[in-house]
Amino acid sequence: MLVSIPNLLDAAEIANCRQVLDAAPWVDGRVTAGQQSAKAKRNLQAPADDPAAAALGELVLTALGRNPAFLSAALPLKVFPPLFNRYEAGMGFGAHVDNAIRFVGETTARVRTDLSATLFLSDARDYDGGELVIEDVFGEHAVKGEAGELVLYPGSSLHRVEPVTRGARLAAVFWVQSMVRRDDQRTLLQRLDEDIVATRAALGDADPTVLSLTAGYHNLLRMWADA
Ligand code: NI
Repeated sequence: MLVSIPNLLDAAEIANCRQVLDAAPWVDGRVTAGQQSAKAKRNLQAPADDPAAAALGELVLTALGRNPAFLSAALPLKVFPPLFNRYEAGMGFGAHVDNAIRFVGETTARVRTDLSATLFLSDARDYDGGELVIEDVFGEHAVKGEAGELVLYPGSSLHRVEPVTRGARLAAVFWVQSMVRRDDQRTLLQRLDEDIVATRAALGDADPTVLSLTAGYHNLLRMWADA
């Protein structure tokens, strides 16, 4: 499932991210790539141990925690600390699959990458190229979000970033280990959650149908979730 969440960050938060990243000590993005993806990856990355970048990562994690659409779609158990990257003209990232398990810095903490996430920090009009292209059973989907927009997709997807041909593309990337490992189960729960919200709005909280749907949601979650 491909999920787009506009306005994860507000205008002040986006401005803060850009200001901090303008002064970031960018390094070659291949430092965090796996063996196959290192050959395909050409971008710049803020060092994960840079204090200013780490603070921006905390800002993103806080924004995720307050966003109902993210919580409903991802059912997060663990979120990998966001990494910030920059693609300048000529840079791109060829087709690859993200590593299944990511280790957090030098620690033993690890995250299974059930979902991959890109948070766009540049406006689409500020650069050409740079589309995130995700392949699924229905073909390819090219995504070019507005600043502040989050895109979630299954970590199992083959994906790439098309070469940037003008300007610069700033983004944060991270991964989510979900309480519900399977994409099809998460998708079903998300749709059911949307239906419950709509049904509550139409019928009220005390309606027996609302009660029954809500019970169904929680009992499926109990069946499928690891918490
Ligand atoms: Ni990737």
